[in-house]
Amino acid sequence: MNTPRLIQIARADADATRADLVAGLGAPHAALSPKYLYDALGSRLFAAITALPEYYPTRTEAAIFRAHLDEIATAVGPTGTLVDLGAGNCEKAARLFDALAVRRYVAIDISASYLKESLDRLQYEHPDMEMLGVGLDFSQHLALPAEIGPGPRTLFYPGSSIGNFTPDEALAFLRQVHTACAGGALLIGVDLVKSASVLEPAYDDALGVTAAFNRNLLLHLNQLIGSDFAIADWRHVAFFNTGESRIEMHLEALRDATVRWPGGERRFAAGERIHTENSYKWRTDDFAALLSEAGFRAPRLWRDAQAWFAVFAAEA
Ligand code: AVJ
Repeated sequence: MNTPRLIQIARADADATRADLVAGLGAPHAALSPKYLYDALGSRLFAAITALPEYYPTRTEAAIFRAHLDEIATAVGPTGTLVDLGAGNCEKAARLFDALAVRRYVAIDISASYLKESLDRLQYEHPDMEMLGVGLDFSQHLALPAEIGPGPRTLFYPGSSIGNFTPDEALAFLRQVHTACAGGALLIGVDLVKSASVLEPAYDDALGVTAAFNRNLLLHLNQLIGSDFAIADWRHVAFFNTGESRIEMHLEALRDATVRWPGGERRFAAGERIHTENSYKWRTDDFAALLSEAGFRAPRLWRDAQAWFAVFAAEA
């Protein structure tokens, strides 16, 4: 049996993280990167979101893969190396191993330690596969380390994580992905534009799990910069911005509040918001055009019957 290998690429140091957060908090319209939603508790709350009745993306994408696995595998071709961007619990990729004839699995996530447990379990189920876990924050720039080995490879970017990027950023990111999988393929999940009556409950569920996920960002901030955010002063706000074609998540001050941290403070008036996430929704034509612009060829797509979600495969 093989043993999973784990490597951690240098993470932003505490000073850089603090500078990024303080700049975001101090901006006229306070805004923070959604990557700060994922501390240990945030990652668990996100996993809980994917089980909510209102949150359709995860189960819809899984159903598309189940229904069209053979066709998708044919389109992608046999995949020596599968590189999973934002692997988390590695569950989605594992369902592709047999169909894609994967021999080498590279799981990338922000923290290598988070990958260890999942890779150990997967290795047990696939003793002959080579498994590599890479701790890497690719939200600003995607540069795969040499340990990944020679191509061609298939890059796997499921869950509509691409939705966190603005269209301009998505194009720049997909160009980097194209370079990273030259001679191979991309397999990507994309959430589609639909009625606000479906979109908004998916980001503001009846149980309040998404609200907890969003408000937990403040606990994470308190930990990262030593701020004194009081969770009870803030409410979760999520809505579909039709003009921008995106769900926006914000934290809104319920009352006037002054937040202090070592070296700074910010006064928030009641009703003032901190923008915490964008989740862009695409039209299939626009996303196919984006893939072409990024250098990909022959994009194919599969959708569920309601056309809520799409899986694209394209040659690099
Ligand atoms: C992980 C970015 C795909 O946008 O649907 C879920 C994150 N935020 N509920 C999404 C999220 C609130 C999710 N992505």
